Amino acid sequence: MRFKNKVALVTGAAGGIGRSVVEHFAREGATIAAADQSREQLLSLRKIADEYQTEVVPFDGNLGDTAYCDSLPTQVFEKTGQLDIVVNNAGIITRGNVLEATDEDWSRSMTINVEAVFRICRNAIGLMIQNNGGTIVNVASCWGLYPGPDHAIYCTSKAAVAALSKCMGRDHAHQGVRVNAVCPNEVNTPMLHTGFSRRGFDPDSAITELGKTVPVGRIAEPDDIAEVIVFLASNASKYITGATLEVNGGKPVY
Ligand SMILES: NC(=O)c1ccc[n+]([C@@H]2O[C@H](COP(=O)([O-])OP(=O)(O)OC[C@H]3O[C@@H](n4cnc5c(N)ncnc54)[C@H](O)[C@@H]3O)[C@@H](O)[C@H]2O)c1
Repeated sequence: MRFKNKVALVTGAAGGIGRSVVEHFAREGATIAAADQSREQLLSLRKIADEYQTEVVPFDGNLGDTAYCDSLPTQVFEKTGQLDIVVNNAGIITRGNVLEATDEDWSRSMTINVEAVFRICRNAIGLMIQNNGGTIVNVASCWGLYPGPDHAIYCTSKAAVAALSKCMGRDHAHQGVRVNAVCPNEVNTPMLHTGFSRRGFDPDSAITELGKTVPVGRIAEPDDIAEVIVFLASNASKYITGATLEVNGGKPVY
């Protein structure tokens, strides 16, 4: 029960990785402030709260809305009385090279993947400094560290998340706030499934084939990433800050 009496804000809480993060925190006693686009998605997380006898408090909103992002940590603090952990997990993927990208693709990806993280971190760090510190884990991507083909906007947005996490980790360490980024390669979530479907592949067989390209023999499950996020949020990683941690089963980006 490492997170008993702790409050963790998780964005993208109803998605593939987010739901697993919520479950891991709940299992260890945290109260979870769950953020995602719709209240219905968030209410489906109640089952997890009931199972582990904790609380999942919904904070639905659109990360494209700057006022929502600027106030989300404060809203959580006011509702629960504290804010110890933030996981900026929500994200979208835009595929293609720059010639295929529209202005809308660029601004939507930068708004949701980068600007929302900046706004939420800025608000949260201020609160954490005034209240005995805290930890932030941002979900970047291996593709942000080593850009792969045909995902120019996505890679650029995730590179920004990685750099921002390093900067904030370094800048606020002396104030008791740790900031790190987790960098997965491929993870078996709706994000990956919809990408395969859109390109006309059967997601299940495509995922099996993709698994053969990973040295450990399979792509990541959400749980593989959630466990690392929880480690970086916990006191077990107390001397780690400003780090980008690759969680890729040994597979390089190519
Ligand atoms: N799945 C992968 O292969 C993979 C690999 C590396 C990194 N990542 C990153 O992991 C994170 C989680 O991805 P996932 O695979 O679980 O995807 P997912 O699509 O299952 O979940 C993403 C969640 O973010 C939420 N979200 C998206 N736009 C939003 C908005 N405007 N406002 C509020 N919420 C919004 C969605 O509703 C969804 O619940 C993302 O940042 C993604 O880029 C995923």
